[in-house]
Amino acid sequence: MNITMAASECAPFFKTGGLADVIGSLPKALAKKKHSLTVFLPKHRSLPDDIDRQLVFEGSFDVFVKWRKQYCGLYSLQSEQVTYYFIDNQYYFNRNSLYGEYDDAERYIYFTHAIFQSLDYLNLEPDLIHCHDWQTGLIPAYIKAGAYPKPIKTIFTIHNLRYQGIFPLSIFDELIHLDSYHLGGVEMNGAINFMKSALIHSDWLTTVSETYAEEVQSSYYGEGLDQLLKQRSHELAGIVNGIDDELFDPLSDPTLPTNYSNDPLCKEQNKLAIQEELHLELNPKKPMLVLISRLVEEKGLHLFTHIIDRLMHENIQLVVMGTGDSQFEEQFHSFSQRYPDHFRFLCTFNESTARRLYAASTFFLMPSRFEPCGLSQLIALRYETVPIVRETGGLKDTIQPYNEFEGTGNGFSFLNYNADDFYNVIRYAISIYNNPDHRNTLLANIYQTKLNWQHSASKYEELYKKVTLGNEGNLH
Ligand code: GLC
Repeated sequence: MNITMAASECAPFFKTGGLADVIGSLPKALAKKKHSLTVFLPKHRSLPDDIDRQLVFEGSFDVFVKWRKQYCGLYSLQSEQVTYYFIDNQYYFNRNSLYGEYDDAERYIYFTHAIFQSLDYLNLEPDLIHCHDWQTGLIPAYIKAGAYPKPIKTIFTIHNLRYQGIFPLSIFDELIHLDSYHLGGVEMNGAINFMKSALIHSDWLTTVSETYAEEVQSSYYGEGLDQLLKQRSHELAGIVNGIDDELFDPLSDPTLPTNYSNDPLCKEQNKLAIQEELHLELNPKKPMLVLISRLVEEKGLHLFTHIIDRLMHENIQLVVMGTGDSQFEEQFHSFSQRYPDHFRFLCTFNESTARRLYAASTFFLMPSRFEPCGLSQLIALRYETVPIVRETGGLKDTIQPYNEFEGTGNGFSFLNYNADDFYNVIRYAISIYNNPDHRNTLLANIYQTKLNWQHSASKYEELYKKVTLGNEGNLH
């Protein structure tokens, strides 16, 4: 099949979150199944220079955003059988941030029209366009409204329902090329809502885990769109993300001080290296708990900050890495002053330090309030680190709590959004880990967990076939 994807970020080109990892790995997994894959991306400023130099110029043309006539330069890059197309317009994309600019609506409407024109320019006739998150949310609306002449099928994947792309109603007349007849399909609560538009107009909807697909149909997780999602539940599938297990491979990862081998002491070597780097006590036997995250409320940080004082009475080391809301950054700075011997806060995000932390740590903490899929727990498993997670979204679908009687499970979890429950499960996890028999069983289970895209890419493939052939039936 001929599949086109559209998204706003993609690793290793530019990344603010897990969306980039998915766009960097899912198309490759599908291309391995002999499909033709093209991916459209904005050419953001943060594209690394060495990659920029490899781009091939395909041509240029004008793109209209209402009365504005804007330049579009089209560049391509071939990588592992996937063709990435970059939409170049310095005015729109040579910015400090991928999102959060005053004219985001205009930038991504421009991106949408530039994709349509590029498809014509390149004579690409995809069987379907797979759109990801709100930045691409108007694509299905334009197709359904006939504003793009070819009736291509569309699939829209929700990576995070919280971020919807909400803009003043006035942009409908100022920027959106649709008749007033179509206003109802893109408007919600007196504003233009890109996400809602996608939920209404796409042929099929998916989200990144089965549990999140259920959760978003409830008012607690639905972010105001639950009723709409409920109405479309028969065209909504949950397909869990995978990771690129060649990119994340502790046997060969060049950032690790010691690559893993059959020797179980390799992991301890990595712990010692991080302890030295962070000036923590050098002790390979001491449990090290790590949290790496954007520092925002939805990651469950209120629960975490609530129990740090108590955790510091345990015989552990705790390391936090990430940036985000200043309230959390300040709190973590103050904990590191209060507990200089056992607590470190790295107020940054650095990919290679992150990998060394995954490899060094004993436990990886993810107490998320909601988590559409989550990739960090999968990376943790890949580096043989035990995840401790809240049972929500993809965390619930990928982490089975360890059962000490049956010897099953690949991590630890708690259900209620409650700090005591989080604290208790951490203590329980440490006690299980200190028992060598349990530890070995748990690690063997972790080792056997399937993390790559193979299974999920087949599910997407099945869905693509169904959508293009218009088959009936349910893919859940
Ligand atoms: C978003 C979600 C995260 C998911 C990622 C990729 O960042 O918050 O849970 O793993 O998208 O789908």
